[in-house]
Amino acid sequence: MRASRLTIFTYAGIMGVPLLLFVMVAGLLANNPYAYTVVPALLALALAVFAVSGIFEIYLHPTYPGSKSPLINGESEVSRAVPKNTGGKLVTFVVKRFNSATKRLDSATYKARATERTTVLGALLSIKDYQDNTVSVRCNCRMGICGSCGMVVNGKPVLACETGVLSAAEDDVVEVSPMLGHPLLKDVVTDFDDFFERHKSVEPHLYRKDAKERYAATEEYKQSKEELDKFLPYSYCIMCGLCLDACPVVNSNPNFIGPQALSQVYRYHADSRDQKGKKRLFDIDTMDGAWGCEFSGSCSKACPKGVDPASAIQMLKGELMKSLPENEE
Ligand code: SF4
Ligand code: FES
Repeated sequence: MRASRLTIFTYAGIMGVPLLLFVMVAGLLANNPYAYTVVPALLALALAVFAVSGIFEIYLHPTYPGSKSPLINGESEVSRAVPKNTGGKLVTFVVKRFNSATKRLDSATYKARATERTTVLGALLSIKDYQDNTVSVRCNCRMGICGSCGMVVNGKPVLACETGVLSAAEDDVVEVSPMLGHPLLKDVVTDFDDFFERHKSVEPHLYRKDAKERYAATEEYKQSKEELDKFLPYSYCIMCGLCLDACPVVNSNPNFIGPQALSQVYRYHADSRDQKGKKRLFDIDTMDGAWGCEFSGSCSKACPKGVDPASAIQMLKGELMKSLPENEE
């Protein structure tokens, strides 16, 4: 439980009473006139603070069992993310919660208040804090950088920390569900192990022919702006997995390596510093690799960072065609 201002007042009252009693007894023993006047007045004040803060604590503290606080009765107004507001709109959250014991997605409905600034992640954390602490949500940065809060909001795969409640709500209802393109763990939290393995399998790092060079490089690898522009947009991937969730091919063929890993193949292939050459293309020259893509474009629409994996895959297909013996210059 977090210490609130009320709790701090309670502690101040508790500490103040024995201290003042001690001072009063000492004053009486020393026959000091303050022991009959000022100290009893301060003692009464400390007792009053203690009593009043205790009453507030019981009736208004949101985490106190039986509290009369509006925060635990489905009308959250405050969360750690969203500053306190009094004029927010009441929104209904229908959260599809995965239950690993029953392997079912059960719906739970909550109410929360939202302003223009309230994000879906902020509202979910508020619900977790003040209404139902069994709701599981994964997040870290809360600023669209770590890629850990991906979920499906009203049918669209999005980063919950970058999605406003009011802009996502339809008829004041926000439906939140996990990304079904990834194995489910609990509620809206999904397992990324397989996703990370796919990423790792394409060796997403620069490859140099001279292995010792990395310990003995004599100068930096210079690049022109044109060389940089070839791969830079693809290096903005934050590995949120939204493109994988949106991809219709991944959802029908789990062996398809997926748009994120393929976009990273292109990112390193297009980098003038990389010396892996055709070997980088060899592993994805399959129906579970680049040729599995049906160019629906949903991966690029879902990407919150503008990575455009669909275009990367089409460029890879072009590179593969160029590398055919009859097309080689
Ligand atoms: S390509 Fe975009 S949607 Fe896919 S994992 Fe990277 S950042 Fe997320
Ligand atoms: S919490 Fe990091 S991207 Fe949403």
